[in-house]
Amino acid sequence: MIQLIRGFKDILPGEVELWQHIEDTARVLFADFGFSEIRPPIMERTELFKRSIGEGTDIVEKEMYTFPDRKGDMITLRPEATAAVVRSYIQHKLYATDPVRKLFTIGPMFRRERPQKGRYRQFYQIDAEVIGVASALVDAQLILLLVTLCSRLNVTDVMPHINSLGCPECRPVFRKALSRYIDGVSADLCDDCRRRKDKNPLRVLDCKVPSCRDAMAGAPSVLEHLDPDCAGEFDLLKKALDTLDIPYIVDKNLVRGLDYYTRATFEIQTGLLGAQSAVAGGGRYDKLVRTLGGPDTPATGFAIGFDRLAEIVGIDRSGLASTPDLFVAALGEQCRALAFEWISGLCLAGIRAEMEYGEKSLKSQMKRANRMGASRVLIVGENELTEGAAVLRDMKTKDQVSIPLEGLVETLIQKVKQQAF
Ligand code: HAM
Repeated sequence: MIQLIRGFKDILPGEVELWQHIEDTARVLFADFGFSEIRPPIMERTELFKRSIGEGTDIVEKEMYTFPDRKGDMITLRPEATAAVVRSYIQHKLYATDPVRKLFTIGPMFRRERPQKGRYRQFYQIDAEVIGVASALVDAQLILLLVTLCSRLNVTDVMPHINSLGCPECRPVFRKALSRYIDGVSADLCDDCRRRKDKNPLRVLDCKVPSCRDAMAGAPSVLEHLDPDCAGEFDLLKKALDTLDIPYIVDKNLVRGLDYYTRATFEIQTGLLGAQSAVAGGGRYDKLVRTLGGPDTPATGFAIGFDRLAEIVGIDRSGLASTPDLFVAALGEQCRALAFEWISGLCLAGIRAEMEYGEKSLKSQMKRANRMGASRVLIVGENELTEGAAVLRDMKTKDQVSIPLEGLVETLIQKVKQQAF
């Protein structure tokens, strides 16, 4: 048997209803906050991700599914959505009509990481981007959206972590101070950190290896190196969150794994997911539109790990599955033909009707109706044909009523309309 690729998964009926519920809840929120949907493709030129996420990042260095297409062009299955949304914003000059765009997209991303709980090679993101506004008020609004989505989905134990990474003016000063500190503790760092400390010293700050954490405990704080403008924006973010009554933790080690960030970065962290503590992550990327060839336009956004969110929502899944309103248990060929006509008419009228298509005993048909969770069963056999009426059984109360075969579909539709069904 051919099996799934490692790190990929099927989202099966039973689980998929929960995913639909999460998606519907997110869509309502996005509409309320003025977002429009955008659907970029799942493959892009490799160059797009190299230029945006950064050549020295784990994603670009180790995790992308990159291959030449048949003509030799290098293409990549997108590891995230931001780069593609920005590419699309620039390519279609979305700024021409209104420079401010609030966009969201939902779909699969691909990263060849080591699979474990909460970490997959194909995973889904709910991604939001606000392009064209520089104010930290928008960052606060994005965090409001994230915590509201979590609370509507009954996710407990989530906490926003926030930080600022400064801008190209103030960050180099911090980087220098950090590099100096790292050089002093490099003997205590893991191999990965020792390797990346020169190319990407900020990443050493969020290494999860305990010895690195200990060694970095006394590292200089990025927040102490912000220039007045960046510091002012970070204060504005904190004030806005206070106004909205959103609790948060200032986390000076939150540097994120993508190079395009400037100023505010944030994550929604939870203790419910074991090692994978981030349900969502995001931040400001004021230079990316320009870097990718567009006008100088500030932007900010986030992505929620859909798979991770689905693992921690506190919602009873059983109530979400769709069950038939009616199961027709027909006995014999003639009754089956009638049943087929009825269920077709009922489905077209928006009533979820199902039947047994082959020859099965009444007992086995009732069992199947039960298993499917049908609320009612319509029984029709030789006797019912002779009497000109089928039996409608309420599966909960076990009450039975007789329904004339003549005009049966219309009678059932009427019953539904009068909520007598
Ligand atoms: P990210 O932190 O790389 O950010 O990913 C966002 C979220 O996607 C993570 O917090 C996590 O929940 C989920 N995620 C990431 N990798 C995996 C994986 N292998 N398996 C399951 N879930 C995963 C970004 O992707 C940025 N594009 C976010 C952003 C949008 N920043 C600005 N705009």
